[in-house]
Amino acid sequence: MSVGIKVFAPASVANLACGYDILGLAFNGPGDEIIARPSDKPGVHISIIRGDQKKLPRDPLKNTAGFAALKLLEHLGTNKGVDLEINKKMPFGSGLGSSAASAAGAVVATNAMLGKPLTREELLPFAVLGEQIADGAYHADNVAPALFGGIVLIRDNESLDIVKLPCPKGLYISVVHPKLEILTSEARSILSEQLSLKSHIKQSGNLAAFISALYTSDFNLIKRSLKDVIIEPQRASMIPGFYDVKQAALDQGALACSISGAGPSIFAFAQNSFFAENIAKEMQEVFRKNHINSESFVSSINTQGVKIY
Ligand code: HSE
Repeated sequence: MSVGIKVFAPASVANLACGYDILGLAFNGPGDEIIARPSDKPGVHISIIRGDQKKLPRDPLKNTAGFAALKLLEHLGTNKGVDLEINKKMPFGSGLGSSAASAAGAVVATNAMLGKPLTREELLPFAVLGEQIADGAYHADNVAPALFGGIVLIRDNESLDIVKLPCPKGLYISVVHPKLEILTSEARSILSEQLSLKSHIKQSGNLAAFISALYTSDFNLIKRSLKDVIIEPQRASMIPGFYDVKQAALDQGALACSISGAGPSIFAFAQNSFFAENIAKEMQEVFRKNHINSESFVSSINTQGVKIY
């Protein structure tokens, strides 16, 4: 097998309570490993997928990593071929940005294998097209943080106008993944298209204040503003014991706690790693009492995004 480019693409938390489809961050939890190798045949070929329990399609047109790489090759107008090896190291339907990690990793690895014709910023649209295969929607709130690292605001998903936000020093995240699977497409389909003016005002105030708090490292303001009055109430019932887990996190001093992406994972913010560890433990304890196995990740914000080995 020819020598290739190996990358690590990190997990991410989308929405961050007050930013449905427009906020996300990368964390040092699990992630996917993707290897891109030159192929004699033009186009994208997926030779190996590990860790997917045979659930993922090998057809590049149906695979988030394969499709992202294919769109990149098409854009470059090259007849070079790439062979992808995908090592899935994160659970599916978990709310941890698994499909986004694969798509982001695939474009970075393929681009690097071709001698980096595009900047990382220029790779974003192809990774988003790849992730769209998974839930049918075009949004970058997992892909952008997985690709670039840090906390990212998507000002506009159509044009992919993104803003990288500051990561306050000391900010930690606890992410607990109950061993359940939620299809993102289903979690999106249950959402109402209607919204009251009152909730719009509340959510906008929280979003604006949260962004301001990131610039000033104001943990108290993060605590007051990281709230979701629109999406969380509609999705909470999909996660058994959600409100008890959230209360346990807040009782342990979490700055905030909400659903990670489309769930079922739940994230909490903490002001240091000690709090974050305790918060994760207590959240898991509530799931355990509800007879649900879970795993937890405690991390500072991953500011690197996809890493080339
Ligand atoms: N913003 C998305 C959602 C993230 O909540 O549906 C999951 O892809």
